[in-house]
Amino acid sequence: MKFFLDTANIDEIKRINDLGLCDGVTTNPSIIKKEGKDFETVVKEIASIVDGPVSAEVTSYTYHEMVEEAKKLAAWKENIVVKIPMTEDGLKAINTLSKEGIKTNCTLIFSVSQGIMAMKAGATYISPFMGRIDDMGESGKKLIENLRRIIDIYGYDSEIIAASIRHINHLEQAALAGSHIATIPGSIFEKLWTHPLTTAGIESFKKDWDAFQNR
Ligand code: G3P
Repeated sequence: MKFFLDTANIDEIKRINDLGLCDGVTTNPSIIKKEGKDFETVVKEIASIVDGPVSAEVTSYTYHEMVEEAKKLAAWKENIVVKIPMTEDGLKAINTLSKEGIKTNCTLIFSVSQGIMAMKAGATYISPFMGRIDDMGESGKKLIENLRRIIDIYGYDSEIIAASIRHINHLEQAALAGSHIATIPGSIFEKLWTHPLTTAGIESFKKDWDAFQNR
């Protein structure tokens, strides 16, 4: 399973990348807004830190505008993947871009049928939003399980990025559901390797060892 960081915060990206745990980065307009930096500057900086794919989202919504914008974004750096929303124009754009060898991440997926459409259009990645699906009283885990089944049955090339991950349990559910990738906010990432019993265990071992040394 690959881990992407769902952030545009350079410090978070450097920290996780230095651990060897960052396989890629995803951004969206809200994430970019949060950092308050120029879009092009921050995306280029992220793409130079991380070897893996870096998703940058189009901000236009018509087919021609999306294709034009996607080509501009993809030209910024070779590891940039263009995020395209799941709409009719978006599907058409994904189709065109995939034929031109531009990698795409079809975002805002909330149903199996949307996922199939994105796969058929040639999306490199599809991004079901686990947290927002759970907010609706449905199951993000089930959606990912079903999307993975469809990929395995029909041999689609798309990879699933479990997105809108809000807590550790989402990451565990995404892993068990067979998601190829999970994209995780920095604040959740560090919780993945911490556990109160690990901290308590280290403290008690240290205390016993120090007492043993000073006997
Ligand atoms: O990966 C998509 C994510 O950035 C959206 O998360 O928590 O706003 O649903 P959230």
